[in-house]
Amino acid sequence: MRDFSENEIPYIHFEDVSFSYPGKKENLIFKCNFTIKKPGFWMVLGKNGSGKSTLLKLINGIIKPKNGIVNCQANIGMVFQNPDHQILMPNCRSELLININQHISDNEINKKIKYVLDQVGLTGFEKRPVHTLSGGQKQRLTIACALVSNRNFILLDEPTALLDKNSQLKVLKTIKNLTSDSKKPISALWITHRYEELTYADAVAELRNGFLSGWQEPSKFQYN
Ligand SMILES: Nc1ncnc2c1ncn2[C@@H]1O[C@H](COP(=O)(O)OP(=O)(O)O)[C@@H](O)[C@H]1O
Ligand SMILES: [Mg+2]
Repeated sequence: MRDFSENEIPYIHFEDVSFSYPGKKENLIFKCNFTIKKPGFWMVLGKNGSGKSTLLKLINGIIKPKNGIVNCQANIGMVFQNPDHQILMPNCRSELLININQHISDNEINKKIKYVLDQVGLTGFEKRPVHTLSGGQKQRLTIACALVSNRNFILLDEPTALLDKNSQLKVLKTIKNLTSDSKKPISALWITHRYEELTYADAVAELRNGFLSGWQEPSKFQYN
């Protein structure tokens, strides 16, 4: 696998990508074209079963397209709907530790852990047992894990589906801050079926009947 330099801007490009699961005749994704070539908060809206998770699997290479080209030059971190399915360790620090994939000194490790916890609004949570966190705090820990492993592109698959309104907002704002950072903004692609989340995005597209629309400004987005 390629190494990505810290300052490299991730690039994702789909050209006429079609996909169907084995045994299915109809394309779930049909001639999908899009590009993400700058940092920001990108959102894809789609109903249940419209192929949103499948689109993410095509991006991160878990599945291959039937037709078309997927060009993905990014160091991808994933955030899933249920954080309990991805957090492995008993406390925040140990969870972050297993995500550090560099040989750095203890001092640097401690600084890095503090820094990413600050970035997701979990300042001082190093020793907190994971089972004492709320769902939203767990989601923000999974985002911190992506940051601590130097991911430059975060794919979030309906990360607020299990959260209450307050936690939903905190997770949205965390990604908004990270993607609009003036020094080192990251790229995030957020998949959702919740229309009200679109206002936080820089650009929005809709997945419907296999087709992905072009990127639109949230304020001009037309939901049919
Ligand atoms: N591994 C699989 N094999 C066969 N069909 C699948 C598989 N995963 C998903 N599907 C089907 O593909 C459709 C879209 O699934 P998915 O991408 O998970 O949609 P969404 O995330 O938008 O809810 C659904 O009808 C689902 O049943
Ligand atoms: Mg899904």
